[in-house]
Amino acid sequence: MSANRPAAVVVLAAGEGTRMKSATPKVLHALCGRSLVGHVVAASRELDPEHLVVIVGHEREKVSAHLAEIDPAVRTAVQYEQNGTGHAVRMGLEELSNSGTTLDGTVVVVCGDTPLLTGETLTRLAGTHAADGNAVTVLTAEVPDSTGYGRIVRDAATGAVTAIVEHKDATEEQRAIREINSGVFAFDAQLLTDALGKVRTDNSQGEEYLTDVLGILREAGHRVGAAVAGDHREILGINNRVQLAEARKLLNERLLHAAMMDGVTVVDPASTLVDVTVTFERDAIVHPGTQLLGATHLATGAEVGPNSRLTDTTVGAGARVDNTVAVSARIGDGAVVGPFAYLRPGTDLGTKSKAGAYVEMKNAVIGEGTKVPHLSYVGDATIGEYTNIGAASVFVNYDGVKKHHTTIGSHCRTGSDNMFVAPVTIGDGAYTAAGSVITKDVPPGSLAVARGQQRNIEGWVARKRPGSAAAQAAAAASQEHPEADAEQ
Ligand code: UD1
Ligand code: CA
Repeated sequence: MSANRPAAVVVLAAGEGTRMKSATPKVLHALCGRSLVGHVVAASRELDPEHLVVIVGHEREKVSAHLAEIDPAVRTAVQYEQNGTGHAVRMGLEELSNSGTTLDGTVVVVCGDTPLLTGETLTRLAGTHAADGNAVTVLTAEVPDSTGYGRIVRDAATGAVTAIVEHKDATEEQRAIREINSGVFAFDAQLLTDALGKVRTDNSQGEEYLTDVLGILREAGHRVGAAVAGDHREILGINNRVQLAEARKLLNERLLHAAMMDGVTVVDPASTLVDVTVTFERDAIVHPGTQLLGATHLATGAEVGPNSRLTDTTVGAGARVDNTVAVSARIGDGAVVGPFAYLRPGTDLGTKSKAGAYVEMKNAVIGEGTKVPHLSYVGDATIGEYTNIGAASVFVNYDGVKKHHTTIGSHCRTGSDNMFVAPVTIGDGAYTAAGSVITKDVPPGSLAVARGQQRNIEGWVARKRPGSAAAQAAAAASQEHPEADAEQ
């Protein structure tokens, strides 16, 4: 548990996010496997707050439903009209006090649209706040371009923070300040509650600014402090899709950097995309053009890519996955997949098995050492160990109404171009002939042949297509090899 456990974290997420130009509320836009607000909630959880309250307003049903899904312990408070960040925090505190919660200690406020903010930075802010005995501590950053942000105004003599002035309300001189308000604060709960009651709306936007609390507390003689963020990119707020892409790139770089430092080879970080939920073991190798999504895990020595997209997929030690799309699949140790394989949910490839070129699988359990090397569809099937499935085979699992299962034993050799019409079972050690349509069970050790007999109608081309190129070629062949004709 954190030494400076806050009484509450309040996440502001009631705004519409007009500049996203989207039917989806801003904080529900996603990057690297989480929504914007999901990232903020995850970072806030690292503070281990007693209460985590998200202020919802615009599209609050959607936002609340999402929060209930990702973190059921999150509480929501409704801000019916977006009357400013100070008003939003007030709604959060009122919600808590209406439900009988008395806040004692620190309240941390964060914005729901800053997905790069880390738990580490929040912890450092809470630490500074406690160590300095401040009434409020604001997280600030020096940015190359401070347009649009609230400016941190400091006393020229002491360097102490005196106020935050919003861009729209700032003088020319104040606009030149590059230190900005990140929108993240630690407050003394009681002083915050009192000060919020005194915030006015006589500003250019006619809103209750949370930032005004600093001036109010300072004038009342309380300590106002600041913590400067180590990396200004961490407090990047997402207001439009350009910033969303920028944040995605930064977070992706951060995730891949950590993976590489942990012993993963990422051949080309610029063309490799990962979600925050992806995990790696040492000596995994990721080739260019690869997306690793959801709960995907790469075990040691697993090699993925180029050009693969794995979602919620586990890749075993030393497995090789090339140009493949996989969703909710398990790939066993030393297995070989692709190039150009499509593994759908429920695919479970055993140790050293193979799903080769142009192979699609779904709900298929493939035993150790079993190979499906070429151009096949394996759906709703169980295959034993060390079996080989011939090229261009189809597990015919769907009769138009229901899906049916195919079971194939161990050490089988099925011919090329087989149709296994489910439900059907092929026993251990059985063979099937090429081109067979298998509709009946095959006992262990049998050879099944299920195809039409070949019939050659001699001289058909000469009679039916006289004078054609085919007829001439056939005539020339019979002159060159009269014995071949005779033998037939
Ligand atoms: C705010 C700060 C500014 C800071 C910047 C950092 C204020 C007055 N200004 O400006 O100093 O530099 O963030 O990104 O605090 N929200 C609500 N209810 C409201 C208004 C806003 O929940 O009534 C939420 C928004 O959904 C958003 C966050 O608060 O998540 C920030 O609001 P926004 O309007 O983006 O504030 P800025 O103008 O960016
Ligand atoms: Ca903003």
